[in-house]
Parts: sequence; structure tokens; C-alpha cells
Amino acid sequence: MEGLSRRQLITGAGALALGAMLTRFISKAEAKGGTTEKWPWPYEKLDPKKTAEIAYEEWYRVFCGAAVISSIFSQLAEKIGDPYKSFPVDSFIVLEGGMAGWGTICGSLAGANIVANVIIGPRIAGPDCEHGHVIGSNIMKWYSEIALPTFVPSNPKANKDKIVQTTSNSPLCHISVGKWMKAYGFALASNERKDRCARVAASVAYKLVEDLNAWKDGEYNEEVAWSPAKHFGITGQQNCNECHGSNIPEAPKMKK
Ligand code: HEC
Repeated sequence: MEGLSRRQLITGAGALALGAMLTRFISKAEAKGGTTEKWPWPYEKLDPKKTAEIAYEEWYRVFCGAAVISSIFSQLAEKIGDPYKSFPVDSFIVLEGGMAGWGTICGSLAGANIVANVIIGPRIAGPDCEHGHVIGSNIMKWYSEIALPTFVPSNPKANKDKIVQTTSNSPLCHISVGKWMKAYGFALASNERKDRCARVAASVAYKLVEDLNAWKDGEYNEEVAWSPAKHFGITGQQNCNECHGSNIPEAPKMKK
């Protein structure tokens, strides 16, 4: 209350100033996390195409995962401010190359899951927050099954005339990038491959915003499309035979 006279307090100007002070206080508390963390974080509908263009450009600065996060959080930081303004987007450069270069999950998908769960909430936070998990999981499936990249940027840095699209049948960076490289014949360090991954990040950002907009309108009613843990007793991709051939090992049962 410091700096506000009693007279100011009962006037509209005082109320505004108090509001501003409280907002500053609350956003600081939220950014610090802990027990004051609340979901959902405020979301305003975004334009998928504009978001995808930002993601494409950001890829060349912070790579796939952070590009997806940045494309959405930078716009929300502008529209809403904190807590988005305090979110350390650039630290998620580590998602590049399938997490620190290990070719595991595609960074774009990791970024999309982070965004969905920050905005909607972790599934353990109750029924209102479940869709963060659902949207994230279903984007993994979408990514695995669709020919990527789907998004064509307005100013592509390579592959200007055409680009080969490939279906990864996997959310793994190594498999997704590897199949594309094999189909098109460009090396990892080529401008063509970089443009391809930037377009993939943009495609994922586009799809994510479509889903978040539908959720915001109360129209995202899907459930998790499938659950390997339930069906196979182990987490994994559903197409077990792609790696295991016809000899799919069974997950060990509980020890007695
Ligand atoms: C992206 C490739 C890939 C996919 C898809 C995959 N696995 Fe695996 N899985 C592996 C690899 C690699 C190993 C380690 C194998 C080894 O060490 O011999 C493994 C190990 C396992 C193991 C541990 C026991 C063992 O014999 O090695 C089980 C159980 C298993 N997988 C089941 C599954 C099931 C069920 C699915 C489908 C739901 C699946 N896997 C999908 C690659 C995959």
C-alpha cells in the first residue's frame, strides 16, 4: 500500500494503481512457482499461420523445441505479459537434435508438450487440466502419421521450389530426420535439412495453436488416442514391429 494515500485509494485512480500493484505482485509470485503456481495460465487465441511463421524464423535462432515455445509464448507475453514474459524460453535450446543431440524425442514435439502443459496444466492437477496431456499426446500421434513438413513458410531459406514430405511413423528425431534424409538425399548439415526441420517446427506450432484455440472455445473433446502402457505393459510407440520385427518382446509381469 506504500505510495498510495487513503484518498487515492477510494478514487478510481487509486483502484487502478492498486490493481497494477497487485498484478505485479501476483505475476512475480507465479513466476517464482511453488504453491502459488496456478493453472490454467491465461491463454488468448492466436493465429496459427502467424505462429508458424514465427516458429520457422525462430528455428534459426534457438532450434526446434525452443522455436515452438517461443512462437507461442512471445505472442502471449505481448498480449498478456507475465507469467509468459518471465518464462526462460531460450533455455529450451537443449531440446535440439532430439534432446541435447541424442536423437530421442523430436524437439518440436517436446516444445509442444511443454506449451500445452504450461497453458492447460499437468494431468495430476485435476480434470480441468487433463487436456494439456491429451493435446500433447495426440500431437505425437499426429506427427508420427502425417507427411511432414505440412507448413510452407512465406520466405523459405531453402527447398524453395519443392520439398519432399516424409512420414516418420515415430516421434523420434533420429527416425523422423533420418527417413527424410534418406528420401531426399541431403545431409544433416545441409541448408535443405535445416529448412526441413524449421518447417517441421512451424508445422507443429500451427497444429498446436489450432488445438489450443479449439480447447479455448471448449471444442477440444478428444481423448488420448491410444495408450501403449495400457495395452503392452510398457511405454513406447504403438508400431512395435518397426523396431522389433515380428519378435516383439513382452514386458515383464510384476514380480510375485
Ligand atoms: C523405436 C524403436 C522401438 C519401438 C517402436 C519399440 N521398441 Fe521395444 N525396444 C527397442 C530397443 C532398441 C530395445 C532394446 C533391445 C535390446 O537391448 O535388445 C527395446 C526393448 C524392449 C523391451 C525390453 C525387453 C527386451 O527384450 O529387450 C520390451 C519389453 C519392449 N521393447 C517392448 C516393446 C513394445 C511392446 C513395443 C510397442 C508398444 C516396443 N517395444 C516398441 C526399440 C523399440
